[in-house]
Amino acid sequence: MLDTLYDYLSNIPGYHVLGLGLVAYLAYYLILVVKRPTFVCADGPLKNFLMREIPTLNMKFWPTFWCLDSRAQTIFASVLRSKTIPSIEYKREIFTLKDGGEVALDWMADNCDSNSPCVIILPGLTGNSQDEYVKCLVFAANNSGIRVVVFNNRGLGGVDLKTPRLYNACNCEDLAEVVQHVRKVVPEYCKLGATGISMGGLVLGNYLARRSEEARTYLSAAKIISVPWNVHKAIDSIEQPILNNLLGRLLTQSMYHTLKQSGLHKHQDLDMRSIKTSKTIREFDALFTIKHFGYPSVDDYYNDATLQNKLHQISVPLLCLSAADDPFQPLDAIPLEAANKCSHVAIIITARGGHIGFLEGCWPSTKDQYMSRVFVEYFTKALFDEKGEFQRIKEDLHRVYLEKQNC
Ligand SMILES: *[C@@H]1O[C@H](CO)[C@@H](O)[C@H](O)[C@H]1NC(C)=O
Repeated sequence: MLDTLYDYLSNIPGYHVLGLGLVAYLAYYLILVVKRPTFVCADGPLKNFLMREIPTLNMKFWPTFWCLDSRAQTIFASVLRSKTIPSIEYKREIFTLKDGGEVALDWMADNCDSNSPCVIILPGLTGNSQDEYVKCLVFAANNSGIRVVVFNNRGLGGVDLKTPRLYNACNCEDLAEVVQHVRKVVPEYCKLGATGISMGGLVLGNYLARRSEEARTYLSAAKIISVPWNVHKAIDSIEQPILNNLLGRLLTQSMYHTLKQSGLHKHQDLDMRSIKTSKTIREFDALFTIKHFGYPSVDDYYNDATLQNKLHQISVPLLCLSAADDPFQPLDAIPLEAANKCSHVAIIITARGGHIGFLEGCWPSTKDQYMSRVFVEYFTKALFDEKGEFQRIKEDLHRVYLEKQNC
């Protein structure tokens, strides 16, 4: 008996090894990889509503089995979407800000009627309305009859700078003006939502926290995707060798190109040559961002931008989607405890998915992606809100919020 086993093992055919390997991988995938996402929110009406109305929340997340690594998810999602999603013809509006600066607002309302709600989309660090993860949301919104407007930051989306000022991760003055403007343009009875991706999530989150009352009067619901909750930890994480660091370098180069394209150096003295040598986001911020916005140090800037400790100030219902393995966002910086106590903020955490990845299935379909599915399920329920339930929840939550502030 042992002899036969020994014989078999010493002459094991290649295809048996392959078969055993596949079975082992399948077991690993099914037992350890496929999981229901973690969902964190204080007990109460918002949690109940979301659990009931967002079916995807209660389903397991099936990350693409040959693309499990977080960096692979991040990069492949970007490549796949950019290869398969066509460009979108928006209606462009040039909006002039109070200081004379201009930003492009890209509207898409092909499939809308006068009752359609509207979602403002804030792209990531160097992103604009033609970025693949933005288009992925825009297509999904269009299919559900939701109007969208993409807010391209100053100097982006092909609009020249009119004033010597760019944008940063915590400056929410421009967003505040854009929200007010959109509120005036969209019929009063149509609800407004906003969603921010990555750095766009920081800008939106900071707006919701710092201008809590104002935000609440304009916005019915908000969503944040793959936000770096704690900027210090995010920056540390993206500097880890080798793959994270490589991603960070790519992003730093893209920041330099954005800066150069914006033409800011024509308006003011910038040492473009030394900025170009930045190898990390931290170096870029030290050489450019903090000087441009008058922060004494990079740490001061990152403190200011960090969202992790501001959840309790938010008074618009906010749903967040993060992946536990996001290379820009270590799991220990996701404010789970705060969200557990916070009536307005709910966080969905998938075990895998990387940064703005969330690729699912054997061959990830670009038509129905996890990220856009959660987006559409949430905003359809929260903004069309035919029975007024979400509005009542928002008002109830606000009463509780005010009581907490008073004591
Ligand atoms: C939006 O939806 C309408 C109706 O389904 C469709 O005809 C149109 O092509 C869509 N637009 C985009 C950009 O997807």
